[in-house]
Amino acid sequence: MPALRPLDAPNDLTVEAATDTATRGRRELFAGKRVAPSILSADFSRLGAQVEEVMGAGARIIHIDVMDGHFVPPITIGPLVAGSIADLVHDAGGAIDVHLMIERPDEQIAEFAKAGADCITFHAEATPHINRTLNAIRELGCLAGLAINPGTPVTAVSESVNDADVFLCMTVNPGWGGQSFIADSPDKVRRLGELVGAGTIGVDGGIDRSTAGSVAETGATLFVAGSAVFGAGDPAAAYAAIAEAAGAA
Ligand code: DX5
Ligand code: ZN
Repeated sequence: MPALRPLDAPNDLTVEAATDTATRGRRELFAGKRVAPSILSADFSRLGAQVEEVMGAGARIIHIDVMDGHFVPPITIGPLVAGSIADLVHDAGGAIDVHLMIERPDEQIAEFAKAGADCITFHAEATPHINRTLNAIRELGCLAGLAINPGTPVTAVSESVNDADVFLCMTVNPGWGGQSFIADSPDKVRRLGELVGAGTIGVDGGIDRSTAGSVAETGATLFVAGSAVFGAGDPAAAYAAIAEAAGAA
């Protein structure tokens, strides 16, 4: 078990109690309506400053897109980069949301948990062992997320409803930032919500101030936005505008 980084845990708690407190803190953050800026579109030469900008505007969940060159063509970010901003995010009361677009996700989850991930999401298409991987993520002390591609039916998650905390509906085909929101997505998000009941429903891809509202109405509460935040001249103002459109904190 890696060392956990309890969110808001007082110093005198036992490790077990601190772990419970950390998990509660994570659940609270992911239970609210949130816009999660994706650093994929950030200026990596000043990553810490970019994260501070959006957290200063109210962001509490920082989304990290991990791509392996196999599940999707590009290679992006590894645990080293996640770990480099983890303290900054946690000290500001936030959480690290890792989105694995990789094959064999079960082989990488421990490294991301050690790097400070609070939630780890992988793709239903990436492994035949969905529930084993979800349970392994929870055993590492993280929230467990299950993502589905646009071409994957919502029923792909139906046997995992009690094993996952977050269900992430891709609203573009994963692999790149800056793509257009798939217009049929709101209907799919609604059907996903009906299927999973209490779990957090996230949407990822093409989310901006005009598309956020359409998926908010269908029950999504976690809105991942990359280029619409960090591609804007003023990321803090862009974050605030999307949060307002989504009805988020
Ligand atoms: C896409 C990634 C997204 C990406 C979103 O494969 O999973 O998180 O950063 O970028 P935008 O908001 O630009 O569509
Ligand atoms: Zn993502």
